[in-house]
Amino acid sequence: MNTKDVVYVNGSFVPRAEARVSVEDRGFVFGDGVYEVLRVINGRLFATSFHNDRLERSLDGIRITLAGGDSPQRFVEIGKQLIRDNRLTDGEATLYIQVTRGATTRGHNFPPPDITPTVYISAARFTPYTEFAQTGTAAITHPDLRWGRCDLKTLNLLPNILASQTAKEKGAFEAMLIRDGIVTEGTRSNLFGVVDGALRTHPSDNHILPGITRSVLRNLARDLSISIDETPISVAEIPRLTELFVTGTTTDVMPVVKLDEKPVGSGKPGELTRRLQRVLAESLASGGD
Ligand code: PDD
Repeated sequence: MNTKDVVYVNGSFVPRAEARVSVEDRGFVFGDGVYEVLRVINGRLFATSFHNDRLERSLDGIRITLAGGDSPQRFVEIGKQLIRDNRLTDGEATLYIQVTRGATTRGHNFPPPDITPTVYISAARFTPYTEFAQTGTAAITHPDLRWGRCDLKTLNLLPNILASQTAKEKGAFEAMLIRDGIVTEGTRSNLFGVVDGALRTHPSDNHILPGITRSVLRNLARDLSISIDETPISVAEIPRLTELFVTGTTTDVMPVVKLDEKPVGSGKPGELTRRLQRVLAESLASGGD
């Protein structure tokens, strides 16, 4: 990461190395905030309105009110400026937007209303996992130790980080999180699998993040008359999986060909996975708004 890159913090554009937030920021002290990650391809942001809506929902969900004049739309405009100023208008990049409840003396209740949220926005170069997308990757299963509002994109990612690190230490790309005998999602991705010929994914409820890639893919699948059954996959059904893939802003459609050291289906990316991978790639290449 280039330390000379310009980032946005609380109204100022500053070099990344000089960007500062208070040690009393509630994001730092409590993880009290929300975030978004958007994909940028050749300077174009992908699925912006979906991300804006989700950020709005996350802010409402944890009861953060933005300062007057601030809005997800405004953050995207700031992001566009960062993309231009950091010369990210060619190739792949990501835009990161984070809002915390602001900086104030530590206390568990909300700060007084005059404390304004901290806003941090940063654009950075991104390298897609092109090789893994071709060969497929490995995943492990791991208990889902998260709270009951996984639908909000909050900074509290400790259970995700611990599971992701365990996956990495076992040579895997992702951890499939299991709650009450049900596969919910990955640590940074949603999950789809084919069981008995049906493409299945967890329904959009409080146990998963409503992924933007998941939503885009559902629309693309509908156009191809591929039906998606939102009946979650149970642990008991894992041995019957013939295809498995995860989706996300930084993973696209990523085939999973090995789960807990056992091959999934033929051990190669499946037919349906390949089709959906292709249509998402086309949409990313041509889309944007
Ligand atoms: N993660 N589920 C979880 C828990 C996630 O953290 C993410 C995204 C997704 C996929 O959502 P989307 O398609 O909107 O990226 C699902 C981002 C990329 C991150 O934390 O870096």
